[in-house]
Amino acid sequence: MSKRFLMAGMALALTLAACTASGGNKVEVFSWWTAGGEADGLAAMVKVFEAKYPQYTFENAAVAGGAGTNARAVLATRLSQNDPPSSWQGHAGQELIGTYVAADKIQPLDSLYDSEGWKSVMPAGLIDLISQGGHIWSVPVNIHRANVMWYVPATLTAAGVTPPKTWAEFLTTAATLKSKGITPLAMGEQWTSMHLFETVMIGSLGADGWKALWDGTGDWTSSDVTDALNTFKQVLSYTNADSSTLAWDKAADLVISGDAAFTIMGDWAEGYFKSKNMEPKTGFAWAPAPGTDGIFDFLSDSFVLPVNAKNPDGATAWLKVAGSKEGQDAFNPLKGSIPARSDGDRSLYDVYLTSAMDDWKSDTVVGSLTHGVVANDAWKAKIDTALGLFLADKDVAAFQTALAAACTSDGACK
Ligand code: GAL
Repeated sequence: MSKRFLMAGMALALTLAACTASGGNKVEVFSWWTAGGEADGLAAMVKVFEAKYPQYTFENAAVAGGAGTNARAVLATRLSQNDPPSSWQGHAGQELIGTYVAADKIQPLDSLYDSEGWKSVMPAGLIDLISQGGHIWSVPVNIHRANVMWYVPATLTAAGVTPPKTWAEFLTTAATLKSKGITPLAMGEQWTSMHLFETVMIGSLGADGWKALWDGTGDWTSSDVTDALNTFKQVLSYTNADSSTLAWDKAADLVISGDAAFTIMGDWAEGYFKSKNMEPKTGFAWAPAPGTDGIFDFLSDSFVLPVNAKNPDGATAWLKVAGSKEGQDAFNPLKGSIPARSDGDRSLYDVYLTSAMDDWKSDTVVGSLTHGVVANDAWKAKIDTALGLFLADKDVAAFQTALAAACTSDGACK
């Protein structure tokens, strides 16, 4: 073999060795953050990770689809094949505890909480939601608010309406908007109708009425629930006809273009509006979803360490960044959420997010159904099936019967 061939062969061998090493150092992180705002937030946190841990290569395994509808299906397949990523983004609450902890899919993180001093900087109520059996199971990176109604001020001014404060008021305002050729409420695919369902329920039943439905003390067959479902049915009649084909950000686009007046969405929508270079307050604005002033319908994105995680050391490094002040302050101002930690640097957060920080402290906090807080996957899946039927047949009595049955078969009424 000539010397030239030998050297070329050695160079190839070295390259292959380097590739294998970097492959082994890959940190594969699973999420569904692909839309404007959420993808920017993730990229900002990845930058912090890469600067702190240059020995690892971040691999973005995001699967598009709001609320994780597609991503969580892909994740379920991978988990069933014992092929978890290094870490995934899930939701604090029953999604985590009642689904992944219950199925032994993730590892406890107590020692990480001790070494990073997180117990003193994360809210005690949040730690409770991610704890089970005396262990802590995830690293919350943020707090999102679900019950927000977004609009473009110029659209409302031109139509001569103001943001409605109750659902009854909404129905009157919606009739006015409709008569002017404006879609009153932009909605997207099915999970966004579950999101709307939960805000109508909270706005109609109040914080205590909503909470009771999830702890087994409430009555799914009550006339209050019937009234709320009837309101939901009426609200749905004011949404865009093509909703089932639209992702949440495409529904938000209808508000941006002025085709629709409002959309009800979590505050990742604020990250989205800002990614379109719109200014909070003037370009886009917000109000509590009708009937929910003083209530904070919350959820929290939370990263986990899977059993059999790929590259557990790299995964732990990622968790350290997700739980750090620096990581959270890089991520949240772009994501449209506030830090889970209580020591975030307020000066980095805009006028909407600082108002959310204040509300988080003073409002009555309730948990989101659509985003994993109050129901585990089994219960939520039954509700989702009932909702799908309701969206097609609009049969309130049948919907209520199915919701009550879901609570009995898979939920708190068992
Ligand atoms: C939620 C998630 C948010 C945001 C949203 C839209 O479930 O918690 O972080 O990504 O879906 O995709």
